[in-house]
Amino acid sequence: MDVRVEQRSATEIETPLLVVNLFEGVTAPAGATGAVDGALGGLISRLIADGEVTGEAASLTVVHVPDGAPLKARRVAVVGLGKAAEFDLEAARIAAATAARKARDLKVDSFATIAHGAGAGGLPPAEACRVTVEASLLAVYRYEQFKEATKSKHQVTEMVLIEADADRAGAFGPVAELAVATCAAVCRTRDLSVGPGNFVTPTYLAEQARAVAQEHGLAITVWGKDELREHGMNAILAVNQGSVQPPTFVVLRYSAPAATGTETKTRTKTLAVVGKGITFDSGGISIKPADGMEYMRHDMTGAATVIGFLQLAAVTRLPVNVLGVFAATENLPSGSAYKPGDVFKAYNGKTMEIVNTDAEGRVILADSLAYAAEQKPDAIVDLATLTGACSIALGNHATGLMTNNQALADGLIQAGITSGDRCWQLPLWPVYRDQIKTSMADVRNTGGRRAGAITAGLFLQEFVDDAPWAHLDIAGTAYTDPQQAYIQPYNPRYGATGVGVRLLWHFCQAWNGEG
Ligand code: BES
Ligand code: MN
Ligand code: ZN
Repeated sequence: MDVRVEQRSATEIETPLLVVNLFEGVTAPAGATGAVDGALGGLISRLIADGEVTGEAASLTVVHVPDGAPLKARRVAVVGLGKAAEFDLEAARIAAATAARKARDLKVDSFATIAHGAGAGGLPPAEACRVTVEASLLAVYRYEQFKEATKSKHQVTEMVLIEADADRAGAFGPVAELAVATCAAVCRTRDLSVGPGNFVTPTYLAEQARAVAQEHGLAITVWGKDELREHGMNAILAVNQGSVQPPTFVVLRYSAPAATGTETKTRTKTLAVVGKGITFDSGGISIKPADGMEYMRHDMTGAATVIGFLQLAAVTRLPVNVLGVFAATENLPSGSAYKPGDVFKAYNGKTMEIVNTDAEGRVILADSLAYAAEQKPDAIVDLATLTGACSIALGNHATGLMTNNQALADGLIQAGITSGDRCWQLPLWPVYRDQIKTSMADVRNTGGRRAGAITAGLFLQEFVDDAPWAHLDIAGTAYTDPQQAYIQPYNPRYGATGVGVRLLWHFCQAWNGEG
Protein backbone atom coordinates (compact mmCIF):
# COMPACT_ATOMS: atom_id res chain seq x y z
CA MET A 1 0.00 0.00 0.00
CA ASP A 2 1.38 3.39 -1.04
CA VAL A 3 0.92 6.35 1.26
CA ARG A 4 0.35 9.88 0.01
CA VAL A 5 -0.29 13.12 1.91
CA GLU A 6 -2.69 15.51 0.22
CA GLN A 7 -3.62 19.03 1.26
CA ARG A 8 -7.38 18.81 0.87
CA SER A 9 -10.51 19.21 2.97
CA ALA A 10 -12.64 16.17 3.81
CA THR A 11 -15.48 17.40 1.59
CA GLU A 12 -13.18 18.02 -1.39
CA ILE A 13 -11.33 14.70 -1.58
CA GLU A 14 -12.33 12.34 -4.38
CA THR A 15 -12.08 8.80 -3.05
CA PRO A 16 -13.99 5.48 -2.94
CA LEU A 17 -13.86 5.63 0.88
CA LEU A 18 -13.33 8.57 3.21
CA VAL A 19 -12.53 7.82 6.86
CA VAL A 20 -13.53 10.31 9.57
CA ASN A 21 -13.82 9.70 13.30
CA LEU A 22 -15.91 10.29 16.40
CA PHE A 23 -15.42 10.22 20.16
CA GLU A 24 -17.86 8.23 22.27
CA GLY A 25 -20.67 10.38 23.60
CA VAL A 26 -20.35 13.20 21.04
CA THR A 27 -23.76 14.04 19.59
CA ALA A 28 -22.81 16.97 17.37
CA PRO A 29 -19.62 16.12 15.49
CA ALA A 30 -17.13 18.94 14.84
CA GLY A 31 -14.02 19.30 12.66
CA ALA A 32 -13.73 17.14 9.54
CA THR A 33 -16.46 14.79 10.79
CA GLY A 34 -18.75 17.80 11.32
CA ALA A 35 -18.06 19.11 7.83
CA VAL A 36 -18.85 15.70 6.32
CA ASP A 37 -22.00 15.44 8.45
CA GLY A 38 -23.08 18.82 7.12
CA ALA A 39 -22.47 17.76 3.53
CA LEU A 40 -24.54 14.64 4.19
CA GLY A 41 -27.41 16.76 5.47
CA GLY A 42 -26.90 15.70 9.09
CA LEU A 43 -26.95 11.96 8.37
CA ILE A 44 -24.15 11.18 10.84
CA SER A 45 -25.89 13.18 13.58
CA ARG A 46 -29.07 11.19 12.95
CA LEU A 47 -27.19 7.88 13.10
CA ILE A 48 -25.71 9.02 16.42
CA ALA A 49 -29.15 9.99 17.72
CA ASP A 50 -30.50 6.56 16.70
CA GLY A 51 -27.60 4.82 18.47
CA GLU A 52 -26.15 3.31 15.29
CA VAL A 53 -22.96 5.37 15.37
CA THR A 54 -21.56 5.36 18.90
CA GLY A 55 -17.92 6.39 18.70
CA GLU A 56 -16.97 3.32 20.72
CA ALA A 57 -13.37 2.20 20.26
CA ALA A 58 -12.94 -0.02 17.18
CA SER A 59 -16.54 0.54 16.04
CA LEU A 60 -17.10 1.52 12.43
CA THR A 61 -20.07 2.49 10.29
CA VAL A 62 -20.01 2.90 6.51
CA VAL A 63 -22.56 5.01 4.63
CA HIS A 64 -22.85 5.59 0.90
CA VAL A 65 -22.90 9.21 -0.20
CA PRO A 66 -26.23 10.03 -1.89
CA ASP A 67 -26.23 11.59 -5.36
CA GLY A 68 -26.07 15.34 -5.24
CA ALA A 69 -24.52 15.63 -1.78
CA PRO A 70 -21.70 18.21 -1.81
CA LEU A 71 -19.09 15.55 -1.06
CA LYS A 72 -16.64 13.98 -3.52
CA ALA A 73 -16.23 10.70 -1.66
CA ARG A 74 -18.27 7.66 -2.72
CA ARG A 75 -18.54 6.28 0.82
CA VAL A 76 -17.88 7.61 4.30
CA ALA A 77 -16.67 5.50 7.24
CA VAL A 78 -17.05 6.84 10.77
CA VAL A 79 -14.58 5.08 13.05
CA GLY A 80 -14.89 5.26 16.84
CA LEU A 81 -12.08 6.76 18.92
CA GLY A 82 -13.50 5.61 22.27
CA LYS A 83 -13.87 7.89 25.28
CA ALA A 84 -12.09 11.24 24.97
CA ALA A 85 -10.80 10.91 28.55
CA GLU A 86 -9.12 7.58 27.72
CA PHE A 87 -7.75 8.64 24.34
CA ASP A 88 -4.05 8.06 23.64
CA LEU A 89 -1.68 7.01 20.85
CA GLU A 90 -2.84 3.41 21.14
CA ALA A 91 -6.50 4.43 20.71
CA ALA A 92 -5.52 6.30 17.53
CA ARG A 93 -3.70 3.18 16.28
CA ILE A 94 -6.75 1.00 16.94
CA ALA A 95 -9.00 3.41 15.01
CA ALA A 96 -6.61 3.63 12.05
CA ALA A 97 -6.12 -0.13 11.89
CA THR A 98 -9.88 -0.77 12.11
CA ALA A 99 -10.49 1.60 9.19
CA ALA A 100 -7.68 0.16 7.04
CA ARG A 101 -9.00 -3.37 7.57
CA LYS A 102 -12.45 -2.17 6.56
CA ALA A 103 -11.06 -0.62 3.39
CA ARG A 104 -9.56 -3.99 2.54
CA ASP A 105 -12.80 -5.85 3.33
CA LEU A 106 -14.72 -3.44 1.07
CA LYS A 107 -12.19 -4.25 -1.65
CA VAL A 108 -11.53 -0.62 -2.52
CA ASP A 109 -8.21 0.16 -4.20
CA SER A 110 -7.72 3.40 -2.35
CA PHE A 111 -9.04 5.20 0.71
CA ALA A 112 -8.58 8.61 2.26
CA THR A 113 -8.36 9.36 5.97
CA ILE A 114 -7.79 12.20 8.36
CA ALA A 115 -5.02 11.78 10.97
CA HIS A 116 -6.76 10.40 14.06
CA GLY A 117 -6.50 12.37 17.27
CA ALA A 118 -4.97 15.59 16.01
CA GLY A 119 -8.12 17.63 16.62
CA ALA A 120 -10.17 17.11 19.79
CA GLY A 121 -7.89 14.18 20.65
CA GLY A 122 -5.18 16.65 21.56
CA LEU A 123 -2.32 14.67 20.01
CA PRO A 124 0.45 16.69 18.40
CA PRO A 125 -0.57 16.57 14.70
CA ALA A 126 2.69 14.91 13.65
CA GLU A 127 2.16 12.15 16.22
CA ALA A 128 -1.41 11.63 15.01
CA CYS A 129 -0.07 11.37 11.47
CA ARG A 130 2.68 8.93 12.49
CA VAL A 131 0.43 6.48 14.32
CA THR A 132 -2.35 6.69 11.71
CA VAL A 133 0.03 5.73 8.90
CA GLU A 134 1.90 3.10 10.93
CA ALA A 135 -1.20 1.32 12.21
CA SER A 136 -2.85 1.38 8.76
CA LEU A 137 0.15 -0.19 7.05
CA LEU A 138 0.65 -2.77 9.78
CA ALA A 139 -3.06 -3.66 9.70
CA VAL A 140 -3.11 -4.62 5.99
CA TYR A 141 0.11 -6.67 6.19
CA ARG A 142 -0.18 -10.31 5.18
CA TYR A 143 2.32 -13.16 4.94
CA GLU A 144 1.40 -15.17 1.88
CA GLN A 145 4.76 -16.37 0.63
CA PHE A 146 3.61 -19.99 0.71
CA LYS A 147 -0.01 -19.60 -0.30
CA GLU A 148 -0.83 -20.60 -3.84
CA ALA A 149 -4.45 -21.45 -4.64
CA THR A 150 -5.96 -19.58 -1.70
CA LYS A 151 -3.87 -16.42 -1.92
CA SER A 152 -6.01 -13.33 -1.13
CA LYS A 153 -7.01 -11.55 -4.29
CA HIS A 154 -7.46 -8.07 -2.93
CA GLN A 155 -4.99 -5.57 -1.50
CA VAL A 156 -5.61 -1.87 -0.98
CA THR A 157 -2.95 -0.14 -3.07
CA GLU A 158 -3.15 3.42 -1.78
CA MET A 159 -3.90 5.39 1.36
CA VAL A 160 -4.30 9.17 1.14
CA LEU A 161 -3.77 11.13 4.32
CA ILE A 162 -5.73 14.35 3.98
CA GLU A 163 -5.04 17.55 5.89
CA ALA A 164 -6.74 20.83 5.05
CA ASP A 165 -4.15 23.09 6.67
CA ALA A 166 -1.22 23.80 4.31
CA ASP A 167 1.47 24.04 7.00
CA ARG A 168 0.34 20.84 8.67
CA ALA A 169 0.06 19.02 5.36
CA GLY A 170 3.62 20.10 4.57
CA ALA A 171 4.85 18.76 7.90
CA PHE A 172 2.98 15.45 7.39
CA GLY A 173 4.99 14.54 4.27
CA PRO A 174 8.24 13.57 6.02
CA VAL A 175 6.37 12.06 8.97
CA ALA A 176 4.43 9.76 6.64
CA GLU A 177 7.66 8.85 4.85
CA LEU A 178 9.27 7.90 8.18
CA ALA A 179 6.21 5.82 9.08
CA VAL A 180 6.45 3.99 5.75
CA ALA A 181 10.14 3.20 6.36
CA THR A 182 9.30 2.08 9.88
CA CYS A 183 6.61 -0.32 8.67
CA ALA A 184 8.86 -1.73 5.96
CA ALA A 185 11.38 -2.62 8.67
CA VAL A 186 8.70 -4.00 11.02
CA CYS A 187 7.27 -6.11 8.19
CA ARG A 188 10.70 -7.43 7.28
CA THR A 189 11.00 -8.60 10.88
CA ARG A 190 7.48 -10.08 10.72
CA ASP A 191 8.25 -12.01 7.51
CA LEU A 192 11.38 -13.52 9.05
CA SER A 193 9.69 -14.29 12.37
CA VAL A 194 6.70 -16.08 10.89
CA GLY A 195 8.63 -17.79 8.07
CA PRO A 196 8.63 -21.59 8.34
CA GLY A 197 11.62 -23.25 9.98
CA ASN A 198 12.51 -25.21 6.86
CA PHE A 199 12.83 -21.90 5.00
CA VAL A 200 14.15 -19.47 7.63
CA THR A 201 17.26 -21.45 8.55
CA PRO A 202 20.41 -20.08 10.25
CA THR A 203 21.97 -19.74 6.78
CA TYR A 204 18.91 -17.87 5.49
CA LEU A 205 19.01 -15.44 8.43
CA ALA A 206 22.66 -14.71 7.70
CA GLU A 207 21.79 -14.17 4.01
CA GLN A 208 19.03 -11.76 4.99
CA ALA A 209 21.46 -9.86 7.20
CA ARG A 210 23.88 -9.73 4.24
CA ALA A 211 21.11 -8.41 1.99
CA VAL A 212 20.26 -5.63 4.45
CA ALA A 213 23.95 -4.78 4.80
CA GLN A 214 24.32 -4.59 1.02
CA GLU A 215 21.12 -2.63 0.45
CA HIS A 216 21.99 -0.06 3.10
CA GLY A 217 25.77 0.05 3.23
CA LEU A 218 26.32 -1.63 6.59
CA ALA A 219 29.44 -3.50 7.64
CA ILE A 220 28.84 -7.21 8.26
CA THR A 221 30.74 -10.21 9.58
CA VAL A 222 29.36 -13.74 9.36
CA TRP A 223 30.97 -16.63 11.19
CA GLY A 224 30.26 -20.32 10.64
CA LYS A 225 31.16 -23.40 12.67
CA ASP A 226 34.92 -23.07 12.13
CA GLU A 227 35.09 -19.47 13.33
CA LEU A 228 32.83 -20.28 16.28
CA ARG A 229 35.30 -23.03 17.26
CA GLU A 230 38.32 -20.73 16.77
CA HIS A 231 36.77 -18.06 18.99
CA GLY A 232 35.62 -20.41 21.74
CA MET A 233 31.90 -19.86 21.23
CA ASN A 234 31.20 -23.27 22.68
CA ALA A 235 27.74 -22.43 23.97
CA ILE A 236 26.38 -21.74 20.48
CA LEU A 237 28.10 -24.89 19.21
CA ALA A 238 26.57 -26.90 22.07
CA VAL A 239 23.01 -26.04 21.05
CA ASN A 240 23.87 -26.66 17.41
CA GLN A 241 25.19 -30.20 18.09
CA GLY A 242 21.80 -31.81 17.47
CA SER A 243 21.16 -30.06 14.15
CA VAL A 244 22.30 -30.77 10.61
CA GLN A 245 21.81 -27.08 9.73
CA PRO A 246 25.11 -25.24 10.27
CA PRO A 247 25.01 -22.39 12.83
CA THR A 248 25.67 -18.77 11.89
CA PHE A 249 26.93 -15.88 13.98
CA VAL A 250 26.26 -12.44 12.53
CA VAL A 251 27.59 -9.00 13.43
CA LEU A 252 26.11 -5.95 11.66
CA ARG A 253 27.52 -2.45 12.12
CA TYR A 254 25.70 0.79 11.42
CA SER A 255 27.65 4.03 11.84
CA ALA A 256 25.72 7.23 12.49
CA PRO A 257 26.41 10.15 10.14
CA ALA A 258 29.00 12.56 11.56
CA ALA A 259 27.40 15.21 13.77
CA THR A 260 27.24 18.63 12.09
CA GLY A 261 26.46 22.25 12.88
CA THR A 262 26.06 23.81 16.28
CA GLU A 263 25.52 20.64 18.27
CA THR A 264 27.33 20.63 21.58
CA LYS A 265 27.36 16.86 21.68
CA THR A 266 30.90 15.58 21.24
CA ARG A 267 30.44 11.86 21.00
CA THR A 268 28.14 9.45 19.19
CA LYS A 269 26.84 6.67 21.41
CA THR A 270 26.86 3.02 20.42
CA LEU A 271 23.98 0.66 21.17
CA ALA A 272 24.54 -3.08 20.86
CA VAL A 273 21.37 -5.00 19.97
CA VAL A 274 21.58 -8.75 20.52
CA GLY A 275 18.93 -11.22 19.32
CA LYS A 276 18.06 -14.86 19.99
CA GLY A 277 18.11 -16.75 16.69
CA ILE A 278 16.72 -20.24 17.33
CA THR A 279 15.17 -21.02 13.94
CA PHE A 280 13.25 -23.92 15.48
CA ASP A 281 13.06 -24.89 19.14
CA SER A 282 11.96 -28.49 19.69
CA GLY A 283 13.41 -28.38 23.20
CA GLY A 284 16.17 -30.79 22.15
CA ILE A 285 16.67 -33.88 24.36
CA SER A 286 14.39 -32.18 26.95
CA ILE A 287 11.78 -32.27 24.19
CA LYS A 288 8.66 -30.11 24.23
CA PRO A 289 5.08 -31.46 24.03
CA ALA A 290 3.76 -31.68 20.45
CA ASP A 291 0.82 -29.30 21.00
CA GLY A 292 1.65 -25.87 19.64
CA MET A 293 5.25 -26.76 18.86
CA GLU A 294 4.83 -25.16 15.42
CA TYR A 295 4.97 -21.75 17.14
CA MET A 296 8.60 -22.43 17.95
CA ARG A 297 9.43 -21.39 14.38
CA HIS A 298 9.12 -17.89 15.88
CA ASP A 299 12.00 -18.58 18.27
CA MET A 300 14.37 -16.51 16.10
CA THR A 301 12.30 -13.34 16.45
CA GLY A 302 15.06 -11.58 18.43
CA ALA A 303 17.45 -12.08 15.50
CA ALA A 304 14.74 -10.94 13.08
CA THR A 305 14.33 -7.77 15.14
CA VAL A 306 18.07 -7.11 14.91
CA ILE A 307 17.86 -7.33 11.10
CA GLY A 308 14.74 -5.13 10.85
CA PHE A 309 16.08 -2.55 13.28
CA LEU A 310 19.44 -2.24 11.53
CA GLN A 311 17.56 -1.61 8.28
CA LEU A 312 15.50 1.13 9.93
CA ALA A 313 18.58 2.68 11.57
CA ALA A 314 20.27 2.92 8.17
CA VAL A 315 17.24 4.19 6.24
CA THR A 316 16.47 6.89 8.82
CA ARG A 317 20.12 7.80 9.44
CA LEU A 318 19.71 7.20 13.16
CA PRO A 319 22.03 9.48 15.20
CA VAL A 320 23.32 6.50 17.24
CA ASN A 321 25.81 3.82 16.17
CA VAL A 322 24.31 0.36 16.24
CA LEU A 323 26.06 -2.97 16.63
CA GLY A 324 23.68 -5.81 15.73
CA VAL A 325 24.59 -9.30 16.94
CA PHE A 326 22.86 -12.65 16.69
CA ALA A 327 23.64 -16.34 16.77
CA ALA A 328 21.36 -18.64 14.81
CA THR A 329 20.84 -22.39 15.15
CA GLU A 330 18.13 -24.99 15.46
CA ASN A 331 17.56 -26.78 18.77
CA LEU A 332 16.88 -30.44 17.92
CA PRO A 333 17.36 -33.83 19.54
CA SER A 334 19.70 -36.35 17.89
CA GLY A 335 22.48 -38.80 18.72
CA SER A 336 24.91 -35.90 18.77
CA ALA A 337 22.68 -33.39 20.59
CA TYR A 338 23.83 -31.69 23.80
CA LYS A 339 22.40 -33.30 26.93
CA PRO A 340 21.25 -32.44 30.44
CA GLY A 341 24.31 -32.67 32.67
CA ASP A 342 26.75 -31.48 30.00
CA VAL A 343 29.07 -28.58 30.89
CA PHE A 344 30.32 -25.96 28.42
CA LYS A 345 32.63 -22.95 28.61
CA ALA A 346 31.24 -19.77 27.03
CA TYR A 347 33.12 -17.06 25.10
CA ASN A 348 33.86 -15.04 28.27
CA GLY A 349 35.38 -18.08 30.05
CA LYS A 350 32.43 -18.77 32.34
CA THR A 351 31.15 -22.34 32.53
CA MET A 352 27.55 -23.52 32.52
CA GLU A 353 25.88 -26.77 33.48
CA ILE A 354 23.03 -27.72 31.15
CA VAL A 355 20.11 -28.95 33.24
CA ASN A 356 17.43 -28.61 30.58
CA THR A 357 18.26 -28.48 26.86
CA ASP A 358 15.03 -26.52 26.32
CA ALA A 359 16.61 -23.54 28.08
CA GLU A 360 18.74 -23.10 24.94
CA GLY A 361 18.11 -19.43 24.23
CA ARG A 362 20.13 -18.23 27.22
CA VAL A 363 22.89 -20.66 26.18
CA ILE A 364 23.41 -19.11 22.72
CA LEU A 365 22.87 -15.62 24.16
CA ALA A 366 25.71 -16.25 26.63
CA ASP A 367 28.26 -16.21 23.79
CA SER A 368 26.45 -13.46 21.88
CA LEU A 369 26.22 -11.13 24.88
CA ALA A 370 29.83 -11.78 25.90
CA TYR A 371 30.90 -10.85 22.37
CA ALA A 372 28.78 -7.67 22.43
CA ALA A 373 30.13 -6.67 25.87
CA GLU A 374 33.70 -7.11 24.62
CA GLN A 375 33.03 -4.41 21.99
CA LYS A 376 32.46 -1.92 24.86
CA PRO A 377 29.21 -0.36 23.61
CA ASP A 378 27.51 2.33 25.69
CA ALA A 379 24.62 -0.06 26.29
CA ILE A 380 23.40 -3.52 25.31
CA VAL A 381 19.76 -4.44 24.70
CA ASP A 382 18.92 -8.05 23.98
CA LEU A 383 15.64 -9.37 22.60
CA ALA A 384 14.66 -12.99 23.05
CA THR A 385 11.61 -15.24 23.02
CA LEU A 386 13.20 -16.58 26.16
CA THR A 387 10.69 -17.98 28.63
CA GLY A 388 7.14 -19.30 28.74
CA ALA A 389 7.21 -17.95 32.30
CA CYS A 390 7.34 -14.38 30.99
CA SER A 391 4.24 -14.86 28.85
CA ILE A 392 2.50 -16.43 31.86
CA ALA A 393 3.45 -13.37 33.94
CA LEU A 394 2.57 -10.62 31.47
CA GLY A 395 0.44 -12.30 28.83
CA ASN A 396 0.60 -10.91 25.29
CA HIS A 397 0.44 -7.21 26.01
CA ALA A 398 3.81 -6.36 27.54
CA THR A 399 7.41 -7.36 26.95
CA GLY A 400 9.33 -8.38 30.08
CA LEU A 401 12.16 -5.98 30.86
CA MET A 402 15.11 -6.80 33.13
CA THR A 403 18.22 -4.72 33.62
CA ASN A 404 21.38 -3.93 35.53
CA ASN A 405 20.90 -0.21 34.76
CA GLN A 406 17.72 1.62 35.78
CA ALA A 407 18.25 4.64 33.50
CA LEU A 408 18.36 2.30 30.51
CA ALA A 409 15.17 0.58 31.69
CA ASP A 410 13.40 3.91 32.17
CA GLY A 411 14.29 4.91 28.60
CA LEU A 412 12.92 1.65 27.23
CA ILE A 413 9.70 1.90 29.26
CA GLN A 414 9.12 5.41 27.89
CA ALA A 415 9.92 4.29 24.34
CA GLY A 416 7.43 1.47 24.87
CA ILE A 417 4.66 3.97 25.47
CA THR A 418 5.62 6.14 22.48
CA SER A 419 6.05 3.22 20.09
CA GLY A 420 3.26 0.95 21.35
CA ASP A 421 5.75 -1.87 22.12
CA ARG A 422 5.04 -1.70 25.84
CA CYS A 423 7.55 -3.02 28.40
CA TRP A 424 7.05 -3.95 32.04
CA GLN A 425 9.94 -4.41 34.41
CA LEU A 426 10.73 -7.49 36.49
CA PRO A 427 13.42 -7.37 39.21
CA LEU A 428 16.86 -8.98 38.99
CA TRP A 429 17.39 -8.96 42.75
CA PRO A 430 20.42 -11.00 43.85
CA VAL A 431 18.24 -13.15 46.16
CA TYR A 432 17.01 -15.01 43.07
CA ARG A 433 20.57 -15.92 42.12
CA ASP A 434 20.74 -18.96 44.39
CA GLN A 435 18.30 -20.69 42.03
CA ILE A 436 20.92 -20.91 39.28
CA LYS A 437 23.85 -22.03 41.48
CA THR A 438 25.44 -25.44 40.94
CA SER A 439 28.48 -27.30 42.22
CA MET A 440 29.29 -28.41 38.67
CA ALA A 441 29.98 -25.07 36.98
CA ASP A 442 29.84 -21.29 37.41
CA VAL A 443 26.11 -21.28 36.65
CA ARG A 444 23.31 -23.68 35.64
CA ASN A 445 20.95 -23.02 32.77
CA THR A 446 17.65 -23.33 34.65
CA GLY A 447 16.43 -22.05 37.96
CA GLY A 448 13.26 -24.07 38.40
CA ARG A 449 9.67 -23.05 37.74
CA ARG A 450 9.48 -20.15 40.18
CA ALA A 451 10.37 -16.75 38.71
CA GLY A 452 11.44 -18.42 35.48
CA ALA A 453 11.73 -15.17 33.51
CA ILE A 454 13.88 -13.61 36.24
CA THR A 455 16.29 -16.52 36.68
CA ALA A 456 16.75 -16.55 32.89
CA GLY A 457 17.60 -12.84 33.07
CA LEU A 458 20.06 -13.48 35.90
CA PHE A 459 21.74 -16.18 33.81
CA LEU A 460 22.21 -13.68 30.96
CA GLN A 461 23.62 -11.07 33.36
CA GLU A 462 26.60 -13.39 33.95
CA PHE A 463 27.74 -12.69 30.40
CA VAL A 464 27.48 -8.90 30.00
CA ASP A 465 30.37 -7.97 32.27
CA ASP A 466 29.72 -4.45 33.60
CA ALA A 467 28.07 -3.04 30.45
CA PRO A 468 24.75 -1.22 30.98
CA TRP A 469 22.37 -3.88 29.77
CA ALA A 470 18.65 -4.52 29.40
CA HIS A 471 17.02 -7.82 28.55
CA LEU A 472 13.69 -7.89 26.72
CA ASP A 473 11.79 -11.16 27.02
CA ILE A 474 9.44 -11.08 24.00
CA ALA A 475 8.05 -14.63 24.42
CA GLY A 476 4.52 -13.22 24.91
CA THR A 477 4.70 -10.35 22.42
CA ALA A 478 6.57 -11.71 19.38
CA TYR A 479 3.61 -13.43 17.76
CA THR A 480 -0.13 -13.90 18.03
CA ASP A 481 -2.22 -17.04 18.00
CA PRO A 482 -5.95 -17.35 17.39
CA GLN A 483 -6.48 -18.46 21.03
CA GLN A 484 -5.71 -14.98 22.31
CA ALA A 485 -8.69 -13.16 23.77
CA TYR A 486 -7.66 -9.84 22.27
CA ILE A 487 -5.48 -9.14 19.26
CA GLN A 488 -4.87 -5.53 18.22
CA PRO A 489 -6.28 -4.85 14.73
CA TYR A 490 -2.81 -3.74 13.54
CA ASN A 491 -1.39 -7.17 14.36
CA PRO A 492 -1.99 -10.28 12.26
CA ARG A 493 -4.42 -12.78 13.77
CA TYR A 494 -1.99 -15.67 13.33
CA GLY A 495 1.54 -14.45 12.83
CA ALA A 496 4.34 -12.15 13.91
CA THR A 497 3.97 -8.68 15.43
CA GLY A 498 7.42 -7.28 14.64
CA VAL A 499 7.75 -6.20 18.28
CA GLY A 500 10.93 -4.32 19.21
CA VAL A 501 11.78 -2.52 15.96
CA ARG A 502 9.76 0.61 16.75
CA LEU A 503 10.70 0.34 20.44
CA LEU A 504 14.44 0.46 19.74
CA TRP A 505 14.07 3.29 17.23
CA HIS A 506 12.22 5.54 19.69
CA PHE A 507 14.57 4.56 22.48
CA CYS A 508 17.57 5.66 20.39
CA GLN A 509 15.99 9.00 19.49
CA ALA A 510 15.60 9.90 23.15
CA TRP A 511 18.88 8.29 24.23
CA ASN A 512 20.79 10.40 21.71
CA GLY A 513 19.17 13.55 23.14
CA GLU A 514 20.55 12.72 26.57
CA GLY A 515 24.02 13.64 25.21
N1 BES B 1 11.64 -20.59 23.24
C1 BES B 1 11.25 -21.02 24.53
C2 BES B 1 10.41 -20.00 25.28
C3 BES B 1 9.02 -19.74 24.76
C4 BES B 1 7.96 -20.47 25.22
C5 BES B 1 8.79 -18.73 23.85
C6 BES B 1 6.69 -20.21 24.76
C7 BES B 1 7.52 -18.47 23.38
C8 BES B 1 6.47 -19.20 23.84
C9 BES B 1 12.49 -21.27 25.38
O1 BES B 1 13.61 -21.75 24.72
C10 BES B 1 12.12 -22.32 26.39
O2 BES B 1 11.85 -23.42 26.00
N2 BES B 1 12.14 -21.97 27.66
C11 BES B 1 11.80 -22.87 28.71
C12 BES B 1 12.80 -22.68 29.83
C13 BES B 1 12.72 -23.74 30.88
C14 BES B 1 13.15 -25.08 30.33
C15 BES B 1 13.60 -23.35 32.03
C16 BES B 1 10.39 -22.55 29.15
O3 BES B 1 9.99 -21.39 29.16
O4 BES B 1 9.66 -23.49 29.45
MN1 MN C 1 13.55 -23.86 24.51
ZN1 ZN D 1 13.70 -21.24 22.73
